[in-house]
Amino acid sequence: MGAAGIVALLMVTISALLLATAAAGNNPAFSCGPGAAQGGYGFCNQQLPVERRVADLVTRLTLAEKVTQLADKASAVPRLGVPAYKWWSEGLHGLSVWGRGMHFNGTVRTVTSFPQVLLTAASFDEGIWYRIGQAIGTEARALYNLGQAEGLTIWSPNVNIYRDPRWGRGQETPGEDPITASKYAAAFVRGLQGTSTTTLQASACCKHATAYDLDDWRGAVRYNFNAKVTAQDLADTFNPPFKSCVVEGKATCVMCAYISVNGVPTCADPDLLTKTIKGEWGMNGYVAADCDAVALIRGGHHYTPTDEDAVAVSLKAGMDMDCGNYTQVHSMSAIQQGKMTEQDVDKVLRNLFAVRMRLGHFNGDPRSSPLYGRLGAADVCSPAHRSLALEAAQDGIVLLKNDGGILPLHRSVVTSAAVIGPNSDDRGALIGNYFGPACEYTTPLQGLREYVKDIAFRPGCNSTSCAFSKIDEAAGVAGWHDHVILFMGLSQKQEQEGLDRTSLLLPPKQQSLITTVARAAKRPVILVLLTGGPVDVTFAKNNPKIGAILWAGYPGQAGGLAIAKVLFGEHNPSGRLPVTWYPEEYTRVNMTDMRMRADPATGYPGRTYRFYHGETVYKFGYGLSYSKVTRRLVVPSQVPNTKNLLAGVSTTVDDGGVSYYDVEELGAERCEQLKFPAVVEVQNHGPLAGKHSVLMFLRWLNATGGRPSSQLVGFRSQHLDAGEKASLTFDVSPCEHLSRAREDGKKVIDRGSHFLSVDEEVESEITFDS
Ligand SMILES: *[C@@H]1O[C@H](CO)[C@@H](O)[C@H](O)[C@H]1NC(C)=O
Ligand SMILES: *[C@@H]1O[C@H](CO)[C@@H](O)[C@H](O)[C@H]1NC(C)=O
Ligand SMILES: *[C@@H]1O[C@H](CO)[C@@H](O)[C@H](O)[C@H]1NC(C)=O
Ligand SMILES: *[C@@H]1O[C@H](CO)[C@@H](O)[C@H](O)[C@H]1NC(C)=O
Ligand SMILES: *[C@@H]1O[C@H](CO)[C@@H](O)[C@H](O)[C@H]1NC(C)=O
Repeated sequence: MGAAGIVALLMVTISALLLATAAAGNNPAFSCGPGAAQGGYGFCNQQLPVERRVADLVTRLTLAEKVTQLADKASAVPRLGVPAYKWWSEGLHGLSVWGRGMHFNGTVRTVTSFPQVLLTAASFDEGIWYRIGQAIGTEARALYNLGQAEGLTIWSPNVNIYRDPRWGRGQETPGEDPITASKYAAAFVRGLQGTSTTTLQASACCKHATAYDLDDWRGAVRYNFNAKVTAQDLADTFNPPFKSCVVEGKATCVMCAYISVNGVPTCADPDLLTKTIKGEWGMNGYVAADCDAVALIRGGHHYTPTDEDAVAVSLKAGMDMDCGNYTQVHSMSAIQQGKMTEQDVDKVLRNLFAVRMRLGHFNGDPRSSPLYGRLGAADVCSPAHRSLALEAAQDGIVLLKNDGGILPLHRSVVTSAAVIGPNSDDRGALIGNYFGPACEYTTPLQGLREYVKDIAFRPGCNSTSCAFSKIDEAAGVAGWHDHVILFMGLSQKQEQEGLDRTSLLLPPKQQSLITTVARAAKRPVILVLLTGGPVDVTFAKNNPKIGAILWAGYPGQAGGLAIAKVLFGEHNPSGRLPVTWYPEEYTRVNMTDMRMRADPATGYPGRTYRFYHGETVYKFGYGLSYSKVTRRLVVPSQVPNTKNLLAGVSTTVDDGGVSYYDVEELGAERCEQLKFPAVVEVQNHGPLAGKHSVLMFLRWLNATGGRPSSQLVGFRSQHLDAGEKASLTFDVSPCEHLSRAREDGKKVIDRGSHFLSVDEEVESEITFDS
């Protein structure tokens, strides 16, 4: 080491001392205060690129210090002035008490609670999804500036495909359709992470890669479940949301799941984590392991003989951050036993510190950040965020039945009402799971009190399971009132993380409560369902004494007001179901059977609107309005430019005699040139103004070779006054929207006719050929 080196070393030591004295105790509030930057820490030098800064920091750490960073509670490194960091925070539909990073015990005690995701998805409005992400990121930043957040890495959103209606966590997802989930992922992540190219507002994490949607069903549990998934299903169903999250959303994290896919635990799968997510998709960020998922590589899946092997396999596969301390505890011995090297740890630390660096954690006092430094208490539960929570709930609510136009109700007519049901006045039914303390809670009962003076409320059951019920009393009250509104459905007692359903019916006593009340009522009753997952309410659909049915998800802090506004016509419902509502009979399907495609030979019915053609209670995309709306589809009869662009491109002929193009062979540039617009002219014929969501599908005439019967191409949501017309343009990309996955996962486009449709009635044929 030369003289210059010794001087540099001295400076480092002195500045480290300065920092240590300046910092409160062993955990300074932030890194790289004024002293540190002057002290010559490369990692504090904001002029250097992130990679150089990270490399500098990692070089300075001893092996023992490095190991302390390998847990979600990463330790401080006091001698370098680096504070402790908590990697695990949640922000699924608002900041949450799940995780460890956020504290609600300072200046800020409450945060905005948006609707549970499945309801927000029903708005089919990317703008809302983006703004919710943005609001959650802003509230996280505000808490951070106030010293109430020990991290800004938020392990949301959950973009697993809601494959089976019984999944307890289906409520957390944007539903069963891969295009919807992909757009949700990108919009939410962009909003949460912010638009700055230099500093992330917060870091988002798309979970849980991949093909995970089983928690605990008849003894099959996620901790050792091996999902057998075909290459075709991975390519066109399970992986697209994660790809979009990374490629379109630029997410800085993907989380691997508890399960194994085709025999390999996802957190130990180099093909998934390194080759696909970090390689092909180019993720700039880190892979998190679901809490204790690395321990389960050995303990649950018996994939490795020792703990050290599990840690080494996972780190080498591309996992960077193990939630829990298993990796931290076993890393040193894994290195000593030669299962992995210090370089393996360095690689992980570079990924981790780079994200903290991009969050500005090494730029000194966060309150001096030009972008986010001013965010504080006024930005949490702000009027804008509260009204967004109301807007999202209103736009998500789905009107499923409205016989004889019983809805909307009119304020002047409804002077008294009986409000019945266990979800009428229960805050838990507003916020679902992964919630935080909300700014306010408006239950349906409270919402209705704004509209109806005289309300008689009877819960009828003491909870959604209805173990204790007073059905006769509820029926009695119903009989004396002109209007009866029931708030029924599910709760976390029936569907939650770690608990899948075994039935799609409402708990039995709820069904008798509803039917008895409807029979006793003077006129048809209104049934509002607060549930995450779909329920088989055929009995209510077919009962003429039940005049209207609404699905309101778990609608968030303003949910009760949103429901009241819809019931009284102050908001015209426009939500569409993001999942198929199957009949109870569907529960004969083995939940562990991951196949999307039907197998008529064995009676396997297939899954979701794309492959299931059996009876439904309500279809994917279903939802009524108070207005009559018409649509007209205008598309060219031939994909433009195909003559030139496809000239000379080879085709292959499949078993069914259909010839097709290989999308990879078409190439990115040609795919870009093949794009064309499809226009939908939509008109609201009244009587009410309101939003309308247009869903455009591609339909296949037959489902050979695993072709879906239909596949969403895109969606647009538009506000229209009564009488107003609009033209909505959909950008159709043949390579993306007309293509299908072959059995080996390869994307191809059939030569010849393709059918675009908007609803079942309006259809248009276009040709894709040279
Ligand atoms: C808030 O809670 C955190 C975590 O429990 C604790 O560390 C912190 O001291 C608390 N702050 C206050 C002001 O009580
Ligand atoms: C690791 O975490 C477990 C469970 O939280 C805890 O009991 C144990 O003490 C921790 N070990 C270390 C070394 O931090
Ligand atoms: C409902 O009543 C049943 C039977 O009395 C009881 O076991 C259950 O704990 C009650 N549930 C609630 C939420 O009060
Ligand atoms: C359900 O699937 C599991 C494996 O996925 C299999 O072990 C079991 O036998 C199946 N049960 C039925 C009834 O098909
Ligand atoms: C599928 O449709 C094509 C025309 O689109 C037809 O030629 C073929 O016979 C059909 N196959 C089956 C199995 O129905």
